[in-house]
Amino acid sequence: MAQRAGGGLSRRAIITSALALSACGPKNAQGQSVPADLPPLKTVAPFRVGTCVQAMHLADPAMAALLAREVNQLTPEWEMKMEYIVQPDGSFRFDAPDRIAAFARAHGMGLLGHTLIWYAQAPPAFEQLDESRISFVDAYRNYILAVAGRYRGQVVGWDVVNEAVAEDGHGWRDSLWARKLGDFEHIALAYRTAREADPQAPLLLNDYNLEYNPTKRATFLKLAERLLASGAPLTGLGTQMHVAADIAPGQIREMMRDLASLGLPVHVSELDVSLTRAENKLLGRAELSRRQTAVYAEAAEAFMSLPQRQRFAFTLWGLRDRDSWLKKENGADAPAPFDDAGRPKAGAAALVEAFRG
Ligand code: XIL
Repeated sequence: MAQRAGGGLSRRAIITSALALSACGPKNAQGQSVPADLPPLKTVAPFRVGTCVQAMHLADPAMAALLAREVNQLTPEWEMKMEYIVQPDGSFRFDAPDRIAAFARAHGMGLLGHTLIWYAQAPPAFEQLDESRISFVDAYRNYILAVAGRYRGQVVGWDVVNEAVAEDGHGWRDSLWARKLGDFEHIALAYRTAREADPQAPLLLNDYNLEYNPTKRATFLKLAERLLASGAPLTGLGTQMHVAADIAPGQIREMMRDLASLGLPVHVSELDVSLTRAENKLLGRAELSRRQTAVYAEAAEAFMSLPQRQRFAFTLWGLRDRDSWLKKENGADAPAPFDDAGRPKAGAAALVEAFRG
């Protein structure tokens, strides 16, 4: 087994061993045979391992068992967002996020609050707010205080603001929140208010394409620095990592190095490795699956290269292929580390190898 000078495993070694491992054991849906005794992800990782989940998943015994076996952190996939919580009359509903929180508590799992403020969701109750009855800033603060306050003491962290940086990386996104409360001020206010609601929770800034777009990554880091300079209680950075199997080797490692430069804990917050979003349409399924395994290895290895104090958690955006949001975009995609039946794929074996360090 090739060892690095520093004692760590080379990526080639990780992939080779993952693929070697995948040559011994029952075959999964991809025809990969992965060892039947592959240890659960959470048992080999020196940090929390999570996945997104919907309340309906918890009613599926096979899924509930897979969650309990593999992870020790859950992120509500959409039921802790405004689109679920804020009703047309401005009231709040919490039945589904409460079920997810209860499942996490019952299974000794962390709960990652996702997400308080997102440009993509501005419910009618906010867009049509009767400001003669309540000011916009009070409605904004009340929402954050209510939601972050409800899960105080339960969450291991909050994605306070999600996807604040413009798609092309030049500046920040426009949103109802920015227009009403200020481009920067609405963001800083969200962190201050979340801290008011929960004096302990880590407060994260989360975004995507930080591995693909260096300009966006630089703008993301500048926003984080400006928040810190303003005294906003930002305490961690989330990189979603919705990537494709043909992402150039090394891009993930370069992103991780940049994100670590602020010294804050880093959360791999939504990792999936799409086969069908690959730009290179000449790659066959087998080659895409091989590259997918290599990408899982690089993501885990890059995260492992961070100092322990900067390894917040490693969250997958779906454990099983069948549950992935990407299936809505292309039913042929298979982006997760476990197949539809919950059997580990070579990607899961690669994660185990890298987490073992
Ligand atoms: C997605 C969910 O996976 C979908 O089920 C939902 O319909 C839309 O939102 N970045 C994010 C996540 O921060 O909240 C998004 O989740 C995926 C992109």
